[in-house]
Amino acid sequence: MRPYSPPSSGRAGKLRLDFNENTVGCSAKVLDYLREHLDRNMFSVYPEYEETRAALAGFFHVAEPQIVLTNGTDEAIQVLVNTYVDDGDRVLLTHPSYAMYRFYSEVAGAEVEEISYEPESLAFPLERFLERARDARAILIANPNNPTGTCIDLAAVRRIIEANPRAAVLIDEAYYEFSGITALGLIAEYPNLFVSRTFSKVYGMAAMRIGVILTQAANAAHMRKAQSPYSVNTLAAIAARAAVADTEYVAQYVAEALQARRMIYEGLDRLGIAHYPSQANFVLFRAGSRAVEVRDRLREMGVLVRDRSYEIDGCVRVTTGTREHAQRFLDALGKVWRNA
Ligand SMILES: Cc1ncc(COP(=O)(O)O)c(C=O)c1O
Repeated sequence: MRPYSPPSSGRAGKLRLDFNENTVGCSAKVLDYLREHLDRNMFSVYPEYEETRAALAGFFHVAEPQIVLTNGTDEAIQVLVNTYVDDGDRVLLTHPSYAMYRFYSEVAGAEVEEISYEPESLAFPLERFLERARDARAILIANPNNPTGTCIDLAAVRRIIEANPRAAVLIDEAYYEFSGITALGLIAEYPNLFVSRTFSKVYGMAAMRIGVILTQAANAAHMRKAQSPYSVNTLAAIAARAAVADTEYVAQYVAEALQARRMIYEGLDRLGIAHYPSQANFVLFRAGSRAVEVRDRLREMGVLVRDRSYEIDGCVRVTTGTREHAQRFLDALGKVWRNA
């Protein structure tokens, strides 16, 4: 296996536009709610999830048995693969996409097949993907995709689910709040559909490690058998309840990030830097042969972005953050770019 080692240190005090996190932190109401519930005994008891499951079922409009709480989307991917994929089974992915799909599939001994995004447009390779879907055991798709920022519509999602009813199809909606496109409404119709959501992005709770898989109840029951009973810690489970209650916070952050995204498009246009339209809280732009230099020089100026040139020629990804953060990024990039 190739190692997956995202930069996981030295980020404190810098403008973190490298991991598509919320750049201002979670809702203040989450912190207040946690404080109200903190007591010494809470730490000594193994987690219980009833209240959280009920709150999330209400929020996602599903029945409680349809929810699997997970330690972030990463555990959602792991549990899905461990439940449905045996040694030697085929897992179908797109390339480039979120690295943990390949990671957990390889750990499970699966044969991974990746279908490349269209080279210039970075459009989803739907027809080529459907051709290869037939004998896959699992199909893992990020919608919107990371790092391209592109989305497929529900008609395309349906075609993929229908292409192989035997395949477990994960639609990873980590960035749903920015795109507004969700496959949640299709769960009742398709027994092979799994939708994941996370509290790591718009909710600003990446450190908490909590997400969910939403699917038909029979699937959720199978997956729980393959999962550690306490993989979500008590603090995260409590925080999630407050997070879904504060819909205003999420709406405000999304509105801010979308305005920041527009500023970044315009700023990149002014610098003559090509970029891709995104439906998420990040933008992929073409720095060409200067991709690594751009990342390194921005870092020296206290702004973190992610070089993706190892998988898409010359590309760098920047998280949109707020308008203020976008401006700081553009000011720094302007200096780097003009100082060739
Ligand atoms: C598409 C996608 N899914 C999932 C994740 C990770 O989510 P979590 O923090 O919930 O494990 C990321 C993070 O970058 C992502 O880009």
